[in-house]
Amino acid sequence: MIEERLALAKDLALEAGALLREGAGHVTEIRHKGEIDLITEFDLRSEQLLIEGIHQAFPQDAILAEEDGSIGEGDYRWLIDPLDGTTNFTHGIPVFSVSIAYTQGNQPLLGVVYDPMREELFSAAISAGAWLNDRRIRVSSTTSLNKSLLVTGFSYDIRTNPDNNLDHFAAFALRTRGVRRMGSAAMDLAYVAASRFDGYWEMRLWPWDWGAGILLVSEAGGHVTRTNGEPNVFAEPTSILATNGHLHDEMLAVLNRNAGG
Ligand code: IPD
Ligand code: CA
Ligand code: CA
Repeated sequence: MIEERLALAKDLALEAGALLREGAGHVTEIRHKGEIDLITEFDLRSEQLLIEGIHQAFPQDAILAEEDGSIGEGDYRWLIDPLDGTTNFTHGIPVFSVSIAYTQGNQPLLGVVYDPMREELFSAAISAGAWLNDRRIRVSSTTSLNKSLLVTGFSYDIRTNPDNNLDHFAAFALRTRGVRRMGSAAMDLAYVAASRFDGYWEMRLWPWDWGAGILLVSEAGGHVTRTNGEPNVFAEPTSILATNGHLHDEMLAVLNRNAGG
């Protein structure tokens, strides 16, 4: 059951990724979902391709897709981000991905993140490990924040929500080798799984952003919670802290440095 769906998720991610790769630099329709939250024709075309592919193969499965919302209901559900990194895509920056997860209740059973520009296909299935193309991946072994490289992101309500992550960004920038902002949450998580980053956090994300990525991290030996340490991350929206495990407590201490005092 998982194998068939994992194979489908990989095929569809490659197909949708090819569509995005060809579309990069040729965006003609840009609409605003919010002041700085964009959507292009490629978000929609990629999502349509993914939904049709899943629905044809497994009509009984429910789907939660970023642009179209929910399709069907049930314990088994797909989470789809057809283009994670729309701002980069719109500006011609080749850092974006397709993210596909399949979940049972609050548990991702498989996750695929595809970076079409580097042809990197990250995949994981529950209890079966995490992979980058055909190579097994593991999180990093960095044990101190002082030697770490982190990544984060900022939500689209940065201008209006006081909980805008700029304070945490500054706090980590002073305690690490650096903090990156790549612009694709799914890739951020995949890079933690592949030991390129030691940790990632973000304050407000939706299930399609992290459904695949959190399984990549946990199957690569890392640890995932909310930024307050709560282990169940399933909420809309939710915060995410994903690390190599060694840095989890140190990062929690920084993120909650003002709590209770
Ligand atoms: C966004 C990206 C970005 C993250 C935002 C997300 P989108 O997703 O993942 O890195 O910081 O919070 O909303 O809009 O490009 O699919
Ligand atoms: Ca998206
Ligand atoms: Ca996204």
